[in-house]
Parts: sequence; C-alpha cells; structure tokens
Amino acid sequence: MTNFPIDKFKNLETPFYYYDTKLLKDTLNIVKQCSEKYNFHIHYAIKANYNPKLLQIIKEYGFGVDCVSGGEIDTALNNGFKADKIMFAGVGKTDKEINSALQSNIFCFNVESIPELMNINELAEKQGKVANIAVRINPEVNAHTHQYISTGLKENKFGINMEFIPAFVKTALTLPNINLCGIHFHIGSQITETEPFEKLCSRINEILGIITNLGAKITIIDVGGGLGIDYNNPKQNSIPDFEGYFKIFHDHLKIEEGQEIHFEPGRSIVGQCGTLISRVLYVKEGSEKKFIIIDAGMNDLIRPALYQAHHHIENLTADNSMIDDIYDVVGPVCESSDCFSNDERLPISHRRDLIAIYSAGAYGEVMSSTYNCRDLSKSILDYEI
Ligand code: LLP
Repeated sequence: MTNFPIDKFKNLETPFYYYDTKLLKDTLNIVKQCSEKYNFHIHYAIKANYNPKLLQIIKEYGFGVDCVSGGEIDTALNNGFKADKIMFAGVGKTDKEINSALQSNIFCFNVESIPELMNINELAEKQGKVANIAVRINPEVNAHTHQYISTGLKENKFGINMEFIPAFVKTALTLPNINLCGIHFHIGSQITETEPFEKLCSRINEILGIITNLGAKITIIDVGGGLGIDYNNPKQNSIPDFEGYFKIFHDHLKIEEGQEIHFEPGRSIVGQCGTLISRVLYVKEGSEKKFIIIDAGMNDLIRPALYQAHHHIENLTADNSMIDDIYDVVGPVCESSDCFSNDERLPISHRRDLIAIYSAGAYGEVMSSTYNCRDLSKSILDYEI
C-alpha cells in the first residue's frame, strides 16, 4: 500500500504521477516467484507504462517484453531489455517495423492475418532470415470487460477467426522464411473473473489439437495479458492474485514436453504503483451538483472519459473527520467527458487540497496528451523526494 509523503507534495507543482517503486518491486517479486514455480515465461506489456525509470526497475527481473509497435521495440531495447525475449504483436505492422524487428532478431512475431504472414515471409527472405511466428487466434471467449478493451470476440479486429486456422497453418508451412512455432491469444484487459481464463484454456487445448494435426510443431503458447486490478479497493488489494491466476493455466492447459507457456501482463504489474496527484482549483456549487474542479484533466488520465473507468479518489489534505459531501470531481479541459467521478463522497474539500486518483500506473501517463495545449504531466518516484 502506498504511503504518500504529503508534506513534500505540498511544495510540488501539480498534477503529477507519483510512483511507489516499493510496491512495484513487491509486485514484480510476486510475479517472478509465482511464474517460476510453473516455469512460465513473462513478457511485460510495455504499452501499459514505458516510463524509463520504471523500466529500469522492471528490467532487473529478467522478463521479456510484449511490444505492439516499432517504437515500443526501440524503447525496450534502449532500456536494456533483451531482443531475444521480445514478442511483437499488433494488427497492423508496417514494413519498416517488421524489417527493424527482423534486424534486431526479436524472439517472435505474433501474426494476425494471412496477408501479414506473406509479407513477413517476403521481408525475411530479403534479409536472409527465418522469422519465428506465433499465430494470433481469436478464440471467441468473452472477457466480460469494457467493450473497448475486449479483444477475443468474433467481431473484434484482432487475430484470425477459428475457421481460418487450417488455411493459415497450411500457408505458413509452405513459406520458407517462416517458422510457425507458436500460438498467441489475448482476450481482453481488466479481466476480474476466472471463468474467461478457464474458457481460454479449454479453447487453447482444442486449438493445439487442430494445429498439431495439421502438421505444425507448436512450442510457444502465449496466453496474452488481461489480469485485472482492484480499482475500487486499491489500498486493501494492491497486488493482484498472481498465484491464483497462474494456477488456472497450470491446472487447465494440457501441454506436452517441450511446450512453453508465455504471459504478457501489463496492468497487473504497474497499475497499482501509480497515483495521479492533483490540486483542487475551485469548489463550485451548481444548482444540482457540487463540483470539485482539479488541475488534472482527461489529458492527464483519459481512462474515465474513454472507458467510463472509475478510479478511487481521496482528498489527502482535508480534515477527514469533517462531515462528508457529494461531489462531481472534474478536470479543467473543455469537454463534459472530462470528469473523474460523479457523485463521489469526499470530506468537505477546499481550494488547494491535494487529491489522489489511485490505480493510475497502467495506461495513465502513457495515454496522456497535450490536448488543450496543456503541459504533459510530470512523474515523480518515491525515492526522488
Ligand atoms: N498483450 C496484448 C497483445 C495486448 O494487446 C495487451 C493490452 C496486453 C498484452 C496487456 O494487457 P493487460 O495485462 O494490461 O490487460 N488502455 C486500456 C487497456 C488497453 C489494453 C490493450 N492491450 C485501459 O486503460 O484500460
């Protein structure tokens, strides 16, 4: 659980992302312990947060990286991650990105269509290389999450649909510069139930049978990421249940000698270690609502506006024994969607109070923008102040 150095915060310009590196390390230690127990391979989904100072910490644990663009591969390599542990996914890889990934000798391409497969074969041939590929399959498993972060349904753009597996595999086996060695899945993000993961496992068992019968030798089973975090109780539940999560795959996947299971966790690793710290600019009374207007906006943390996500909010400096009130907590950006929470129960709040928006370590800082010509939010790590 993060303890904030509130006195030190009082002198700092807001808003900023505050990272609790102790919590990050505790989380990483648990991921390492629990995954090693089953011999599972971890590739950190770098899209969740590529703050270089956090990457320096994550790198020390020896994990690989899951990347979805050439830029992410460069970021991973520049921050000391090893090319031979990089997975490259993404539904639209450009020639430039593929060429550069081939040059870097990354571990594996997660391929999402037959035209992409043909293209990688051609580009690999020009470089005189054979590309390791995993076919990304859309397993038609409902992740029961927000529609924008659900990826494993028939109508989603990701992966190939089940009925195209034979065509994909047969084509791959004829291509001289392709080594089809894996299958890849990612059914969605912020998954808080065990059932979708169990269903995914049975689908994978079924698919492994189909692909093996088609003559391919699969050694890599990449189940993606998606483990959710507790946005409602971040303090009580600051580290997700990795033990239980990995056990599902251990118990349900039927793998053979020589087959490896790979994971791509993002949010579950960095989500709880980041908090957006902001200041109250004004408290405004409306005829129907009271608003706390803070100096962080949707440009700093877009998740509430984009996915109707709710992040736990606290007033760090108000007198918490004061009778509480009901507020809409909003930012200064000129959009009605720039609202962090409706009807939030908080202690009576005043101008200049410090507000903490929890669980902002994943898809927070990386999705921030300069919309409204606002400054990009800064970041501060616990050991820096
Ligand atoms: N692997 C692949 C292929 C992915 O597309 C993703 C996330 C992950 C792994 C990591 O998933 P995680 O463990 O973080 O759930 N911006 C959204 C989330 C987008 C997730 C995109 N893909 C949000 O703020 O909720």
